[in-house]
Amino acid sequence: MKNQNYLWHPNTQMLEWTKFPKIVRGEGMWLIDDDGNKLLDGVASMWCNVWGHSKKELISAIIKQTKKLQHSSLFNLTNEPAEMLAKKLVKMSPNMAQVFFSDNGSTAMEIAIKIALQYWNNLGLKNKTKIATLENGYHGDTFGAMSVGYVPEFFSKFRSKLFSTLQFKVPRQYHLPRNITLKEFENICLEKIEDRLSKDDMIAAFVMESGAQVAGGVNIYPKNFQKRINTICKKYNILFVLDEIATGFGRLGSMIEYKNQDCHPDIVSFGKMLTGGYLTFAATLTAKKISNSFLGKFSEGKHLFHGHTYTGNPIAASLALENIKLYEKTKLIQKIQKTSKVFENRANEFYELELVGDVRQKGMLMGVELVNDYLIKTKKSINKIVFDEGRKHNIFFRTLGNVVMLVPPLAISNNEINLLVDGALKTVKGISKSLK
Ligand SMILES: Cc1ncc(COP(=O)(O)O)c(C=O)c1O
Repeated sequence: MKNQNYLWHPNTQMLEWTKFPKIVRGEGMWLIDDDGNKLLDGVASMWCNVWGHSKKELISAIIKQTKKLQHSSLFNLTNEPAEMLAKKLVKMSPNMAQVFFSDNGSTAMEIAIKIALQYWNNLGLKNKTKIATLENGYHGDTFGAMSVGYVPEFFSKFRSKLFSTLQFKVPRQYHLPRNITLKEFENICLEKIEDRLSKDDMIAAFVMESGAQVAGGVNIYPKNFQKRINTICKKYNILFVLDEIATGFGRLGSMIEYKNQDCHPDIVSFGKMLTGGYLTFAATLTAKKISNSFLGKFSEGKHLFHGHTYTGNPIAASLALENIKLYEKTKLIQKIQKTSKVFENRANEFYELELVGDVRQKGMLMGVELVNDYLIKTKKSINKIVFDEGRKHNIFFRTLGNVVMLVPPLAISNNEINLLVDGALKTVKGISKSLK
């Protein structure tokens, strides 16, 4: 980069970029830069945008609350929007009783882990401190969240400082060991999980993404895989902790994905789409038995040892309430079930491209895995190659490794979703051509 850049961009080799497109406006599904170029927001601004940009109801909710109360603490005080949102989330989420608010997905997962560990401590089972997880899970970039996740590409530099977890394999059709079917491998994975969980009474919790692993490469679980892990956890008295930060609130075609998976978690986290993608906010919900265990005399020290300055911020909470109201008013989930059929119906078109190894899709989430050896070995980031080519076709892409993510705002129209698929096909073709 020639000029000094004061702004440090996330997960970015700054030397690879001479200039970042400067976004000055957002209109519906489109982002507009300072030269007036339009980009279709193909990643819902990192998977959080629901309605597109500049949705007037959401802007009004922010302004209305901003005029009344911008921030007030949940330490010693309460506020109406946070109270109302907690009630709403509990009513929407089967088996949940209480909500702890925080600022982003990583903090929501840190809190989930701390609550799970302190739960056993509160019951006097101080040795129950191990956490079980799945390989390739992603729960955020803070140390606790990295520890329960672990995508090697992201976290290897920090490995020595991560706490250890028990990690189990995930059945993935495209990455199966040789000479084995998906069902057989799934059964082996579950047997290994049950075998280990049955023998170790120090395991406090099993933590996993709900419905699919997103950052780990769009790995959609086989039907009932998650439910069977839930059953194993119940059998061996291990808390079942779900991360719905990327997959809840409609991404996979359901509002509450664990309901769709017929699961009964003890703790669950929501983030990203909770505020429609307009303000940073997240929630960690707990079942009654969990929150009850934190009650006692002050001197017993059972209360939760956690808090953030902006916990329960009233502007973000008002926005989330308005956002949920819009989901209900517009029947967004039913609409998503229809629009996602466009994805489903067009997925096969990617297999005709020589660079494409696999396509995985559920609801409004699609991952197109690229395979070309040269592409994988190139010293440039695949993200940069795909981003530059995508821009030529007016689409904003951000890849995960060699997986091109198609993660549009949930309210996208059929027409625009077709534009996104067309743009992705042209982008992959364009990359193939440039490699020749
Ligand atoms: C499943 C999941 N959990 C947690 C996080 C972390 O959320 P945040 O980036 O808001 O910290 C993410 C982010 O992509 C995620 O996909």
